[in-house]
Amino acid sequence: MARWRILTRLAVTALAAVTVGGVSLAAPASAAPDRTDATPFVVGGTQAAQGEFPFMVRLSMGCGGALYSPRLVLTAAHCVSGTGNNSSITATLGTVDLQSSSRVQVRSNYVYRAPNYNSQGADWALIRLASPVTGISTLPIATTTAYDSGTFTIAGWGSTREGGGQQRYLLKATVPYVADGTCDNSYPELNDPMEICAGFASGGTDTCQGDSGGPMFRRDASNAWIQVGIVSWGNGCARPNYPGVYAQVSYFASAIASAAASLGG
Ligand code: ARG
Repeated sequence: MARWRILTRLAVTALAAVTVGGVSLAAPASAAPDRTDATPFVVGGTQAAQGEFPFMVRLSMGCGGALYSPRLVLTAAHCVSGTGNNSSITATLGTVDLQSSSRVQVRSNYVYRAPNYNSQGADWALIRLASPVTGISTLPIATTTAYDSGTFTIAGWGSTREGGGQQRYLLKATVPYVADGTCDNSYPELNDPMEICAGFASGGTDTCQGDSGGPMFRRDASNAWIQVGIVSWGNGCARPNYPGVYAQVSYFASAIASAAASLGG
């Protein structure tokens, strides 16, 4: 399982950008981690409405993200190469349709990758945009474990089945929390405090390649969206008894907040 995990984590670090209608729909260059899909389970999502999840960000290396502040996008560490100046990433915001003429596109100018990121977890990073976006809602992160259970929403432009292509329109789905003890049975290498699992025991609904870095979120006590996870890895996609694994945002909340402050908020 450990080897599989490394493969799925690294999948997005080597991407071939495919341009469709002027928009880069990056797809994994190496389909190796996906090739075990004797059964191509559909991720099981439906299209999100325009404006339903305004904080959703598509990143040009083929990952998702969430708008943390007007200048910062929270994504997965495995979507970026390291910490430092970086103007190579384009963020697309404000649209469910990546080819929309009203989309907002901004370049990055800096990337901060979790300093303790390794194959054992801490799969988070912040991307600073060259200029702040205006009029786009941000997604607050969970700062306690209070929301680390229940039913979660997942969303992204990633593939709808193992080995499938990237999507033009944002897809969404809901998945239930899977307790650490249960998830440990599927993934003995799970890093319990740093990772949170979600999915149906019967499979069928999951995030998949290209959704990495995107948020997993739910409603808080005031009925506002709050981010509890960051799409990280899994054994294939939507397989029975193999839930999706997400970086547990509450565990990293204070580290994310300090990093954000050091980047200028
Ligand atoms: N590592 C994948 C990516 O880079 C995300 C995989 C999520 N897998 C899952 N079964 N939930 O896009």
